[in-house]
Amino acid sequence: MGEDHRMNSPAHHSSPLINAVIVAAGKGERMGTLLPKPFLALAGVPLLIHTVRNLLRSPLITKLVIVVAAEREVFLQDLLERYGPFSVPIGLVHGGRERQDSVRLGLAALDPACEVVVIHDAARPFIAAEIVDRSVAAAVEVGGALVAIPVKDTLKQVDEDNTVLATVPRQSLWLAQTPQTFRVQLIREAHARAVSEGIIATDDAALLERIGAQVKVVRGDPLNFKITTPDDLRLAEAILLKGLGARC
Ligand code: C5P
Repeated sequence: MGEDHRMNSPAHHSSPLINAVIVAAGKGERMGTLLPKPFLALAGVPLLIHTVRNLLRSPLITKLVIVVAAEREVFLQDLLERYGPFSVPIGLVHGGRERQDSVRLGLAALDPACEVVVIHDAARPFIAAEIVDRSVAAAVEVGGALVAIPVKDTLKQVDEDNTVLATVPRQSLWLAQTPQTFRVQLIREAHARAVSEGIIATDDAALLERIGAQVKVVRGDPLNFKITTPDDLRLAEAILLKGLGARC
């Protein structure tokens, strides 16, 4: 890694080229459905389409790459035709075994001139564009940013019998969400290092932390939760019925 983590000649890059990657190649086994999570209907529209629409409310994004399981590519292509057109070109890439593999494959398909990438989970449909834009601003400034919310409940550490061992101080603890936004050069380097060192992490920011790069937290919003279980799906439907699902 070079000494200087800033983009080349930042003075000449007042508006860097920004792409987004949505990872949608997971199996979603905790959902217990045959159809993978991104394709489940939320108020009649596939979850992934809600996510694409809300993410693209950010005017900064000039291209979107969606990482999808190979066997779902044709299905997704049909959905994009049915629910489009969208405001930017959308490229499809096949995913990998772990989320991290899917992100790395998505990064390889960015616009060659792309300088900043917004990486987002398909399973978080209620992302607000204003939060995307703040994550971009932070990534431009320090190299990496992740959206997170402060822990508001009291944290207990327990043993296998559910006996409380300790109360963990919650000050300074945040729950990581996506988007996670990075200068492209840095996140590519972080992923390459993870491959060569055999590291698998559950988020991209962790890979940047490992190479000693700075990552900032941008305050997110509880509505940007990850849809994981059938209960989450019902909660998401309730949010849409109340008219709270279209973010701006
Ligand atoms: O499994 P989990 O909910 O943590 O996945 C987060 C996101 O990563 C989901 O949007 C899922 O589709 C995606 N993913 C992927 N490729 C994998 C595993 C997960 O694109 N191999």
